[in-house]
Amino acid sequence: MRIALGSDHVGLELKEQVKQYLTEKGIECVDVGCYTAERVHYPEYAKKVGEAVVGGACELGMLFCGTGVGMSIAANKMKGIRCVVCSEPYSAQLSRQHNNTNVLALGSRVIGVELAKMIVDAWLSAEYEGGRHAIRVDMISCLEK
Ligand code: RB5
Repeated sequence: MRIALGSDHVGLELKEQVKQYLTEKGIECVDVGCYTAERVHYPEYAKKVGEAVVGGACELGMLFCGTGVGMSIAANKMKGIRCVVCSEPYSAQLSRQHNNTNVLALGSRVIGVELAKMIVDAWLSAEYEGGRHAIRVDMISCLEK
């Protein structure tokens, strides 16, 4: 399992904490930046993570900004990306099972690191169920055309 991680300056610290957590679990992390506290523009990093996922370099992606909202809006503009912004584990789990999300966005100003880890665990341990959900996910893909 390889996961692309991206953040802006506000999400940087949470990204580092989640990266360490994932690495300890044996998950390979590809950190596309940012790497310093210098102010940056979050769509740039949403694009990098989206490209890593759509291009197949990474199976999944995670994005970190102040709320997770800007990152998720930007990522969802990319064809093939289904990004969920979460502040609790239940939606994270269901977003995988029903919506086949491939990018998770978290807000460093909204949640703490321990809740972030619970959300990450819920998201990673859930599997897409397909079946009745597949037609709806296909309908979402049709909106990209
Ligand atoms: C940056 O100030 C902030 O707007 C960004 O981190 C994020 O919260 C946007 O949605």
